[in-house]
Amino acid sequence: MTLEEKIGQMNQLDPSWDAEPKEALIRQGKVGSIFNVVGVKQINRLQRMAVEETRLGIPLVVARDVIHGYRTIYPIPLGQGATWNPELVEQAAQLTAKEALSDGIRWAFSPMVDVAHDPRWGRVAEGYGEEPILTSAFGAATVKGYQSQGMAACVKHFAGYSASEGGRDYNTTWIPETQLRDIYLPPFKAAVDAGAMSVMCSFNALNGLPSSANHHLNVDILRDEWHSDALLVSDWGSGSDLVPHGLCADKKEAAERCINARMEMDMQGNIYTDYLAELIAEGKVKESQIDDCVRSILRLKYRLGLFDNPYVDEDKVIAYTPEALELATRVAEESAILLKNNGVLPLNVKHSTLNVLITGPLAHQKKEQLGTWVFDAQPEHSVTPLEAFQSLNAQRSTLNVIYEPGLTYSRDKNTDFSKVIAKAKQADVILYFCGEEAILSGEARCRADLNLPGAQRELMKALAATGKPVVMVVMAGRPLTIGAEVEQAAAVLYAFHGGTMAGPALCNIITGKTVPSGKTPITFPKMVGQVPLYYNRLNTGRPSYDPPMLIDSIPIGCPQFSIGQSSYWLETPTEPLFPFGFGLSYTTFEYGPTTYEKQASGAYEVTCTIKNTGSYDAYETAQLYSRQQSGSVARPICELKGFKKVFIPAGDSCTVTFTLTPEQLGYWHESWEPVRGSDIKAHRYYFATDNVPFTFRIAPHSLPAGIGF
Ligand code: NOJ
Repeated sequence: MTLEEKIGQMNQLDPSWDAEPKEALIRQGKVGSIFNVVGVKQINRLQRMAVEETRLGIPLVVARDVIHGYRTIYPIPLGQGATWNPELVEQAAQLTAKEALSDGIRWAFSPMVDVAHDPRWGRVAEGYGEEPILTSAFGAATVKGYQSQGMAACVKHFAGYSASEGGRDYNTTWIPETQLRDIYLPPFKAAVDAGAMSVMCSFNALNGLPSSANHHLNVDILRDEWHSDALLVSDWGSGSDLVPHGLCADKKEAAERCINARMEMDMQGNIYTDYLAELIAEGKVKESQIDDCVRSILRLKYRLGLFDNPYVDEDKVIAYTPEALELATRVAEESAILLKNNGVLPLNVKHSTLNVLITGPLAHQKKEQLGTWVFDAQPEHSVTPLEAFQSLNAQRSTLNVIYEPGLTYSRDKNTDFSKVIAKAKQADVILYFCGEEAILSGEARCRADLNLPGAQRELMKALAATGKPVVMVVMAGRPLTIGAEVEQAAAVLYAFHGGTMAGPALCNIITGKTVPSGKTPITFPKMVGQVPLYYNRLNTGRPSYDPPMLIDSIPIGCPQFSIGQSSYWLETPTEPLFPFGFGLSYTTFEYGPTTYEKQASGAYEVTCTIKNTGSYDAYETAQLYSRQQSGSVARPICELKGFKKVFIPAGDSCTVTFTLTPEQLGYWHESWEPVRGSDIKAHRYYFATDNVPFTFRIAPHSLPAGIGF
């Protein structure tokens, strides 16, 4: 290959705009990958240019933001996290790959495995929540699901992107190396171990160094420690962003920094095409560095079989199969979390006549229920909650559905609720579908206020004031601060954006055909000022053990005092609205004592028996938490070490057992040690388990009794 041809392979372009000059570049062999091109015919047309018109005929690899479905849309990844069921999500990834591949897509820009502690950050919707083990399981499942069908996964955003200051997208992150390795990197490692064929750099500066120029992340960790040969692609222009970051004086210097940090493919940045040849001529970059990158790109193309099969059959497009729609219903059912139920749910639609008012700005929004990052779904295929209830209404004379949206979209500020309140008075029960439109979460959609937007809070208040039981169903891209509304509601179901089949899934749960089993994959704060609030935090030396003195209980003229103080806010204690791992069912589960024993190998065997004491057969997710009593540094109040979603028929018991190796109890340590042969000292990081007592708890959620809350 000539140098020009090699550099061409490192160039990824979006020809959905400015198409003509970009197509000319494809014909000249100056493009290795394209993305955002829609339709198998169009993709084959561009592929022909690469294969038939260039000297070497190297096929393009076609990428797309396939995030939570292609045509059939599954719940947003945060909702998938709430299923605690990676096997189900793996099946969804398989069917997603089938649809995308049939339309010419070979490379999905997902899964996003950024562990997120901050619901203000819009991209919290795109990941699986706040927990490294949970995120690792879903990331690996998605990689396996896609790649088993022949579509490459791209695990992103490497790394630390989600810890952005203030929850504002693209913002700087400061993460100590030990925390990076304990919390943020494990899901990337799990995805790479599952065979992820590519990795995407993140936009943020991590500890001052943007990822595209971060040799430590891209080479020391990804290549040398993890031995990954995945292709490393930039994010959109993340290489040229080194100039506004304040790292490089110009784009040429940015190209030099990126190639020296082994960023292999440049997405829409044009810094490699514009400057690499010059940098080589000046001796600042070696051609062997380019060869390494091109080898990685060609390896991906070989792995996908593109050299044998560059084109896609134009007559075999797969979309919205019954199998996919059924699976989408199941995933949406498992992603819904029952947060409160005073007994109103499930609705009894079988016996006496039930008048149900369906209201709220998300009750009938075919596009909005799909959530963020949906490019290729046709919203007309979505089934909304209103439609699902109307079709049940058609089958059952005992159900009478009344519809009045009250608000037309989630930000609607119109407070004339007279029509909806008049209809509420005729109803026996009110189903209030509220939340956020899809565009309020996702990339660059961060919020400084986590309340329900528009006049939705006022509508909830007005509905509750009718005295009729209100079932609040929240369809949103993040946890919202809904404490006041939870108080007013008779029941609360948190559904996230549930995708194509959100309507039937929610209808099945509300009417008791399906028993809810979702559990929070992220802590729900009471107030935005509490964030970041996450379950595996340190306790501080002054946890808020006692009911703290809140702002209104401070006596006027209160003198300064210096004893007996603890860690909280004047407006709220540290406890969340709902802890990580929380979710109710229509049945009840009784957890027996957790027993554990240390074996000769150093491993612990941890066991608990769970009894279904209610009257519904149901799934329960048993969560194993460890607590390390002391350590070489302070240790978190608890850490998830495993989980099992088990089906327990009413009246039955189930024994769950986990085996924990010493390695699973280890964490990253930092020491400051002399560098051999010199008188300087350097940081050294190592992974180890402290030889101290541990306690274990198999529990229905993370909130540990008596610790810090
Ligand atoms: C920017 C986003 O950060 C990334 O997640 C996405 O895959 C690319 N744009 C391509 O659209």
